[in-house]
Amino acid sequence: MSLGLTEHRKEDREQRLAEIREALGSRSIVLIGLMGAGKTALGRRLASRLDLPFIDADAEIEEAAGSNISEIFAEHGEAYFRQGERKVIARLLKSGPQVLATGGGAYMNAETRANIKAHGISVWLRAELEVLLKRVNRRDNRPLLAGDDHEAVMKKLMAERYPIYAEADVAVESRDVPHDTIVGAVVDALADKLGCVKKPAKDQSREKV
Ligand code: S3P
Repeated sequence: MSLGLTEHRKEDREQRLAEIREALGSRSIVLIGLMGAGKTALGRRLASRLDLPFIDADAEIEEAAGSNISEIFAEHGEAYFRQGERKVIARLLKSGPQVLATGGGAYMNAETRANIKAHGISVWLRAELEVLLKRVNRRDNRPLLAGDDHEAVMKKLMAERYPIYAEADVAVESRDVPHDTIVGAVVDALADKLGCVKKPAKDQSREKV
């Protein structure tokens, strides 16, 4: 009995995902990028495709603090938040393999960057200003965007952070297309970086039936 082309493609895809998991070992896939880059939404889907746990660092910080990020900023200030962020991410990185989404400022901390390098593979979800603005304007839960001029803030953050984000192991453009398309691009980039070879789907016509 022979498998159809679709089944072969599915088998190859599963095989490649398994290779990625194996190459990862206990490392985490760490998603970095600006607010609105899609770290959480894409991270969840990536984790489900790879059959790995998904962890959101901001949610973990909120749980550890017993309050939400806006409250932490308002009550204790940004420096306090950054300290908590650094500690929580260092703790989380000990529990790989997993997909770990980090808040936009996390990778700017040199110690966190070094920790990610040691315990993970970093994926920068890069996005154009227009895409980011469209996404961040949908919600008002971000203290750095508490003022009116979102565009000015995001432009400033892009100028400061993109050169540092560029140190990530891989970069994938987070465009305004279905999530699954971007997740596919992340999987391809990871497979490439980790040396997992992409095998073509078997050609049915060359097979004996
Ligand atoms: C921040 C991004 C936020 C959150 C905090 C600060 C930043 O996370 O950590 O509001 O400095 O860019 P998201 O990138 O998930 O929105």
